[in-house]
Amino acid sequence: MSASQTSFADAASMVDLDRYPIANLAAADGAAFTEKRHREYVATGLCMLHGFIRPDALAVLASEAGGLLDKAYFCRSAHNAYLAEDDGITDDDDVSHRLEETYVGSVAYDLIHEDAALKRLYKWNPLKDFIAAVLGKPVLHRFADMMGACSINVFRDGGEHGWHFDESEFTVTLMLQPPEEGGAFEFVPKIRGLPDEKAIVAKVLDGARDGVVELPFTAGTLLIFGGRQTIHRVTKVHGKRPRLVPVLCYSEEPGSTNSPEVRKLFWGRTGLEPQPVLEAGP
Ligand SMILES: [Fe+2]
Repeated sequence: MSASQTSFADAASMVDLDRYPIANLAAADGAAFTEKRHREYVATGLCMLHGFIRPDALAVLASEAGGLLDKAYFCRSAHNAYLAEDDGITDDDDVSHRLEETYVGSVAYDLIHEDAALKRLYKWNPLKDFIAAVLGKPVLHRFADMMGACSINVFRDGGEHGWHFDESEFTVTLMLQPPEEGGAFEFVPKIRGLPDEKAIVAKVLDGARDGVVELPFTAGTLLIFGGRQTIHRVTKVHGKRPRLVPVLCYSEEPGSTNSPEVRKLFWGRTGLEPQPVLEAGP
């Protein structure tokens, strides 16, 4: 039996509930804390909870993720900041023509052991309900995608994620293991839709640092991030120790999944492949 199977059977025991009273949002302290974090998210597009995961649970989560590295699928791509085709944009100087590099791996949800502490945390309803409350959503559902529900991003030596706006409104990540060097999360808050949005994007892509915020990687931090409004990137990682960041996905509608094309891009399979036929034994 692994360490994760003998400890943290209850997801609540992984979370520092003294500091972050999210187990019961109907209680006075839980309601007040959540309301404060909601206001902060609306104002900044960010909710960052340092030390969300207790140190002993963090060690288990990092060890589990570290044991799955050979199951990560790596994808190298070039994309613009909008993660969209630039067809139809005739202005040669438009920022949509400028490409950024991304090289990242991901361990698919269906390759993480059913008893893993990460899956217990993801399936813990109070966490889902707290995230919904921070975002101001009446309800959230766990994502129903077999690979993308809760995957683990792996940035090994040379890994990076170029400047971009997310397609999804929000992203929830858990800072699990910092790399030896690099791998900083940088962003320019809430610039989407501003009259000078594209001028700001152009400056950021040129390397201007005004307005760029860098979040230190502190293991155990839970981050709720409004990535559609805020351009962001992960700087290039160096060294032997990979940067490990689980991504917890939720949806406002039940049963939501990625398309087979997206699964193929991020995890190398559609999920629709025929299963191998096992030969009958003698
Ligand atoms: Fe992103």
